[in-house]
Amino acid sequence: MGTDLKSVLITEEEINAKLAELAAEVDAEYAGKDLLIIGVLKGAVMVMADLARALSTPVTMDWMAVSSYGAGTQSSGVVRILKDLDTDIKGRHVLIVEDIIDSGLTLSWLLSNLGSREPASLNVCTLLRKPEAAKVAIDVKWVGFDIPNEFVVGYGLDYAEKYRNLPFVGTLAPHVYGG
Ligand code: XMP
Ligand code: MG
Repeated sequence: MGTDLKSVLITEEEINAKLAELAAEVDAEYAGKDLLIIGVLKGAVMVMADLARALSTPVTMDWMAVSSYGAGTQSSGVVRILKDLDTDIKGRHVLIVEDIIDSGLTLSWLLSNLGSREPASLNVCTLLRKPEAAKVAIDVKWVGFDIPNEFVVGYGLDYAEKYRNLPFVGTLAPHVYGG
């Protein structure tokens, strides 16, 4: 793995500390409420697992898998549901948990899709966000880290399905993706 990575952007310790902060804010927001957290597969698996365990609020968990249509590595904004929720979210307090917001197109679509199902509330918590890559403005209540517009891997994020199991977030060496 060593030479495939250019640098460690966010360490395991930094991630854990940030998730503890975010969990305290989520706990405060949803005190006394029945919270459903929704993870977007596959990238959000690690954030879901660690954020959920840092929460004191009892939660139920569900998962969605979506994919962007279109060629290339850039999100098109046209999204297809690969796996829908098992849960009816009407009247529920829903928190979408994301690994990363890049252009924002996927999340923007997801928010309008889930919003149309009439949840009692709908918020977003993302570990990472790339402000310079934003193509649409999205109201994201909780952001772990704003990061530079570089391709990152680890902690759920992949390049060609690899590196998801790294416990930290790193940037890839250009030779790995042919740069
Ligand atoms: P958009 O552009 O719609 O994209 O906000 C969101 C999804 O694209 C993936 N993505 C990444 N995956 N490293 C990754 O491993 C990255 O730097 C990266 N940027 C975007 C990710 O699946 C995200 O949910
Ligand atoms: Mg994702």
